[in-house]
Amino acid sequence: MSRDLIVVAGAGGFIGGHLVSHFRRNGFENIRAVDIKPFSEWYQHFDGVDNQQLDLMLLENCRKVCDGASEVYCLAADMGGMGFIELNKAKCMLTVLIGTHMLQAAQEAEVERFFYSSSACVYNADKQTSEDVIALKESDAYPAMPEDGYGWEKLFTERMCRHFREDFGLETRIARFHNVYGPHGTWDGGREKAPAAICRKVIQAKFSGKHEIEIWGDGKQTRSFMYIDDCLVGVPAIMHSDILEPINLGTNELVTINQLVDIAEEIGEVKLERRYNLDAPKGVNGRNSDNTKIREYLDWEPGIPLREGLEKTYRWIYDEYVAKYGAARAV
Ligand code: NAD
Ligand code: GDD
Repeated sequence: MSRDLIVVAGAGGFIGGHLVSHFRRNGFENIRAVDIKPFSEWYQHFDGVDNQQLDLMLLENCRKVCDGASEVYCLAADMGGMGFIELNKAKCMLTVLIGTHMLQAAQEAEVERFFYSSSACVYNADKQTSEDVIALKESDAYPAMPEDGYGWEKLFTERMCRHFREDFGLETRIARFHNVYGPHGTWDGGREKAPAAICRKVIQAKFSGKHEIEIWGDGKQTRSFMYIDDCLVGVPAIMHSDILEPINLGTNELVTINQLVDIAEEIGEVKLERRYNLDAPKGVNGRNSDNTKIREYLDWEPGIPLREGLEKTYRWIYDEYVAKYGAARAV
């Protein structure tokens, strides 16, 4: 039990929402949850928490939320999967205002620790040209050639975290998340990532009786996907560690997008005809997480198998789909 104030910025979203739930389950009583979205749109709802709807691009709002805080988890961002970040580079870059102002406010408020959620999108594109990718180690972010827009913003804010620590003594910690998935995440609307999108498309195909699926790219591109429960172990562990440099937080279970579809089909007990849309946003050809460092520091690494996590995610999206479109269309 701790009475110290924990702030979660971006608490109305996927990972932020789970983080607040995690802290509450673990007995923390003093939590401030902040997001720009109206409360009705938050993915999870919390009693007994100081919920605030505020735009964290504004310094004055960041000052309000950091006031009295001992720990700040900065997850707020205008982001999404490839379908969003490839087409909204300026919006993604404007998130730099959240990182900048949250760091400034946290330093002024003398918070003890500041967590920043960076991304595998900071890695140099040249290291991700082949599907048969060599797992990315932390040093592969330099020389810098990250994902245009979103990746540059993440890399810049990482550097700010570093310099706030070195110059001002603010204890910053940074995780580079590799594609995170699970229940209570975005599953439609354009910001969804591949695991949720593929589950939804399989469910949609079952509902419609039209047994086909559109896959972005040629399906041979590779990724690793981390289930949310692993993320919830990793974030507090990194926050309370002495890991000063950005560190990978992801699994190293590398799959092709075709294999991801195979698993979703198996869960949905259906076989679909595949159509490949080569004009859709694709991102890098291959990306995997090198977990040497996290194993060294924490004697742990994310390890929940994709099959296990995707089953839970599929079931949750199925229920959401039925809730949205009506049970009458269920198969
Ligand atoms: P999410 O979109 O579900 O959550 C982000 C939340 O930030 C949203 O609820 C959004 O409303 C809020 N937000 C946006 N602008 C804001 C503003 N101006 N003021 C206050 N709140 C604002 O995303 P997520 O998947 O939970 O990701 C959380 C963090 O992790 C983000 O920083 C993201 O870049 C990073 N990340 C996520 C993944 C992933 O696979 N989910 C991978 C790499 C990095
Ligand atoms: N979103 C989506 N929807 N992707 C699809 C689909 C689909 O229907 N079909 C195939 N894909 C392919 C994409 O073309 C891409 O090659 C791959 O699946 C993964 O797409 P995403 O999950 O959208 O994004 P990502 O892995 O390239 O990047 C994500 O992870 C980063 C961290 O590793 C993004 O969410 C980034 O914002 C995040 O930082």
